[in-house]
Amino acid sequence: MRYLFFLTIATLLILTGCSSANVPLSNPTNKKALDTSVTIFKHGVASGDPMSDKVIIWTRVTTTQKIATVKWQISEDVNFKAFTMSGQTTTDASKDFTVKVDVHKLKSNTKYHYRFVTEGKSSPVGKTKTLAEGAIDQVRLGVVSCSNYEFGYFNAYQGLADSELDAILHLGDYIYEYGPNRYGDKAFSRKHLPAKEITTIDDYRTRYAQYREDKGLQRAHQQHPFIMIWDDHEIANNAYKDGAQNHQDDEGDYQVRKKIAKQAYYEWQPIRETGNKELYRSFKLGNLVDLIMLDERYTGRHEPTAAYDKASEERTMLGAAQLNWFKNELKISKATWKIIGNQVIFSPCDLSMVRPDSPINLDAWDGYAYERDDIRAFLTSSKIDNTILVTGDTHSSWAFEVPELGADYKTTGKTSAVEIGTPSITSANWNESETASDEQVIMGEQALRLSNPHLKFVNGRDHGYVILDISPSETKAQWFYTADIKTEMSKITKAREMKIPVGELKLVDVEE
Ligand SMILES: [Fe+2]
Repeated sequence: MRYLFFLTIATLLILTGCSSANVPLSNPTNKKALDTSVTIFKHGVASGDPMSDKVIIWTRVTTTQKIATVKWQISEDVNFKAFTMSGQTTTDASKDFTVKVDVHKLKSNTKYHYRFVTEGKSSPVGKTKTLAEGAIDQVRLGVVSCSNYEFGYFNAYQGLADSELDAILHLGDYIYEYGPNRYGDKAFSRKHLPAKEITTIDDYRTRYAQYREDKGLQRAHQQHPFIMIWDDHEIANNAYKDGAQNHQDDEGDYQVRKKIAKQAYYEWQPIRETGNKELYRSFKLGNLVDLIMLDERYTGRHEPTAAYDKASEERTMLGAAQLNWFKNELKISKATWKIIGNQVIFSPCDLSMVRPDSPINLDAWDGYAYERDDIRAFLTSSKIDNTILVTGDTHSSWAFEVPELGADYKTTGKTSAVEIGTPSITSANWNESETASDEQVIMGEQALRLSNPHLKFVNGRDHGYVILDISPSETKAQWFYTADIKTEMSKITKAREMKIPVGELKLVDVEE
């Protein structure tokens, strides 16, 4: 039984991986002047990277024109009686007809509506919100990762679309690169397009277009700004700076593929492009939260070691430049809470009871322990308090107290951070393999808790998302699970809630 569970977890950790209908949400009321079109704007609208005075707004036009002229409008008024800002831009095949506008001179902590107009047609209306400045009482963030089109409907995105939020943090694996039936539910009707592993610019663009036609994903983008980071599957499984487990020589030059994948990502995502072309960046949410988004794949990650030897100084996940930037961001932060957008599990995690032949996840921070422990030591020596890592990648829910480096957690209980893991939107849970039952997974969860006393909660059986409710006195982490991913719009319920009191770096169960 343990061996079966071992197979399940091993497969899961090795394989960390759309056409449907449109989303006709309510449109502006001045229909006399503007027709609506879900054909031209069939990939919806999106916003992202909000700051206190600006936000990216995004759409894509499906047109036969060589160059499309697109007007954009943003307003505090849902009826667009007056525009706060408006303008015009063009797009063409060189950008896959995507449109991205960085709208400046906005008011802080303000909800806006936005839309695009081309060929006399109006896009659906999107909603977005700028970040606050100064003292605020609350920040509410959705946290997601790992949406594989072939495993099910993106119902979790629907749940977040209907929630009151400041922003959605996406921790990566937004798309998966595989061809049909390579990593998915073979019995489920949704199959990847193009019908091959994506390697060319056209392939990556087609895959984003397919995913972006999912109703749930499109609604989530329409309702809230996203703050995003990529994980491996935005290029290829278990990717690093100079290669990937799922990139072979006959698929061409890896650096070319990486460049192509990044190009499509930037075209299709509402992300502000910075001068240095790095994706790691930070956001200030008033005086309450500094949000630091790390890139743990493409800028500084070395190839994972095949067999654990020792915590090698040479094997980095962030790399020196990003690590220095990260430490500086932590040091200069004056916010109450530091939320870290993190892709892979940061906490030490002993897997020996569930996979005795492979007790360390070498793709996670345990495989890069020298750099991880340098960060843990820094958090303690620099007295960085109220640090919460939010983590994707594993298709399961986690809550860790991150033990302080050098202190015996069992006897002292000393911590340097807290880590919250979000489940997958659809990608395979531990029980969704042919080799493990629910009961076996529950036994595995119990075994993990026993061998990791700093692990306070783990669930490898459910899909969904996390909502963080952050206030000056505490942060609440709430896990929401979908009843079913094979049926659209299935029920979503809150399954678990834990809080982190300010100044304590401890997880406390909240009873309903
Ligand atoms: Fe994943």
